[in-house]
Amino acid sequence: MDVIIRPDTASAVKLTARLIADAINAKPDFKLGLATGGTMEAVYAELAAMNRAGQVDFSLVRTFNLDEYIGLPADDPNSYRYYMNHHLFDHVNIDPRNTHLPDGMATDEEAEAEAYEAAMADAGGIDLQLLGIGNDGHIGFNEPLSSFSSRTSARYLTPETYRQNCVYFNPPESMPRRAFTMGVGTILDARRIVMLITGSRKAAIAARAIEGPLTSMVTGSAVQLHPDAVVILDAEAAAGLTCREYCDDAFNNDPKWAAYR
Ligand code: GLP
Repeated sequence: MDVIIRPDTASAVKLTARLIADAINAKPDFKLGLATGGTMEAVYAELAAMNRAGQVDFSLVRTFNLDEYIGLPADDPNSYRYYMNHHLFDHVNIDPRNTHLPDGMATDEEAEAEAYEAAMADAGGIDLQLLGIGNDGHIGFNEPLSSFSSRTSARYLTPETYRQNCVYFNPPESMPRRAFTMGVGTILDARRIVMLITGSRKAAIAARAIEGPLTSMVTGSAVQLHPDAVVILDAEAAAGLTCREYCDDAFNNDPKWAAYR
């Protein structure tokens, strides 16, 4: 696992967007796994700016999002479909038919989850999965106790996640308590993982995910199992890491990061 610490949020975001853009440019029919949340808004703004500047082309890219709230239609401003349209898809040259999220209004939840897994498999699997992390350590909506071999399915959200995300809803109590999410096993199948963690609020959970024991209580710790994972943090989010000296030394001197310094 590569852990890269940037001095501020803006440079952590820029590095994340550049890694994604370079990967797309190397393989135009790229299969990109996407995440939502406040952290990712700046990444999508950066990718949209790069697209406008002709630095990355989404015309053949296919996307699969990690998760979607159950019970919210696509046009609900709190649905992740709406978030993705608003923050990325409406601003880049992607074919909307190539963008995928689970359907939060699906009546047969098991069939929807199976169809989502099948769509990813038919596309040839995810080339790069972008990840954030929730306050309770979740990736996607894989709450504490989610099996590391779990697949896409409907889940019940924790009180911690409810407290973190209900602020976006009006009234807050209208936030759905259930969601579809790719499983931890689904996420680990991606050929590459890029995780972005920013802000002092995430410092403790970042340290548990990156340096702590593998545990389903912090599903973000599963990234330690992935053979090609890079975790990008700003200095505030990295404050609790003991590996900081090594991470900085590797980023500043390992030739594989030369283009990104
Ligand atoms: C939601 C998403 C997660 C995301 C998390 C972090 O819960 N399901 O995929 O990582 O938000 O949100 P934020 O970036 O706002 O802290």
